[in-house]
Parts: sequence; C-alpha cells; structure tokens
Amino acid sequence: MPKTAIYPGSFDPITNGHIDIVKRSLSLFDKVIIAVNDNSLQKFLFTAKERVKMIKRALSFSNRVEVESFRGLLVSYAKAKEANFIIRGLRALSDFEYEFQMYLMNKKLNPEIEIIYFMTNQKYSYLSSSIIKEISRLGGTIENFVPEGVKKSLQEKFGKGFS
Ligand code: PNS
Repeated sequence: MPKTAIYPGSFDPITNGHIDIVKRSLSLFDKVIIAVNDNSLQKFLFTAKERVKMIKRALSFSNRVEVESFRGLLVSYAKAKEANFIIRGLRALSDFEYEFQMYLMNKKLNPEIEIIYFMTNQKYSYLSSSIIKEISRLGGTIENFVPEGVKKSLQEKFGKGFS
C-alpha cells in the first residue's frame, strides 16, 4: 500500500519554505497531499481556489503531489484520504506551543494518525506567509521567498505596493 501523507496548512500564499518541506517529505512518502485550509471562519487574502492553483503551479515538478482544499476536521479529511501521516514544518521555538497543542489534540481525535515535524531549512527559517504579504503590500522585494506565480498573484492583489 502506498505511503501517503497529508501536508495541511493555510498556504496564504505558499512560500519557498513550504516547497522545501514538500520536497523533503517526498523522500519519505510515495504521495503527498497538500491540503489547503478552506475554513470559512478564517479570513484569507487568497480564495481556496486561488491558493490551490498557485500551489499546483509551483509543485508541477512532481506527479506524486496532489493539491486540494478541505473543510472540517483535519483528522476526518486524513481518514477520507486513507492517509495515516500528517506533515508539519517547525521554524522556531515560537511555533512549538501551537504545534504541540495541535499535535496532542489531533492524536486524541485519532490516535492512529502519526504527525511528523520537519525542522525548517535554515535558509527559510525567517519566512512566513504573513510576513511575505506585508512585504509585498508595502512594495518590498519577495522574489527570493516565493515562486514566480505567487509573486505575480501578490502583485495583482497589491499593485505596486505602499497601500
Ligand atoms: O498554516 P496554518 O494556518 O498554521 O494551518 C493550520 C491548519 C490548517 C493545519 C489547522 O488549522 C487545521 O488543521 N484546521 C482544520 C480544522 C481542525 O482540524 N482543527 C483542529 C486542529 S487540532
């Protein structure tokens, strides 16, 4: 049976740090499903459809990657996909508390699920989708931090910046 992992997140938008985690996870799993959070209570810059499209474009190098949006509980989604593994990235100590709580709760909800954490590549340790949006909104350079398609989409949202 192929080993499938879910990589869930908001990906608003996807960054080179996320892509690095996907690449590394492909060395451990046969298939990685990028699950884009489409929770209607949260406010995102990009719609789920836009985020899925940007991710598909950025990850077209692998036919072992699948991208789709999901609603509801992550553990239910993972079960529906017959995936026993969830992948998350950890950048700094500040990520730990939230991730640890999420880990414990997901384990309570489904003890069979294994959640695997990838330590950030040092190169991307300072990247986050929020900081990318702020830099882009204020007209800063983001091309080393996100794929080309994401850069263009951000420019379309924010124009030349300084708003
Ligand atoms: O990139 P993010 O915003 O840190 O990702 C958070 C995400 C999508 C993984 C988390 O909010 C999630 O799993 N949402 C689905 C709803 C759910 O299962 N909540 C309980 C988590 S313990």
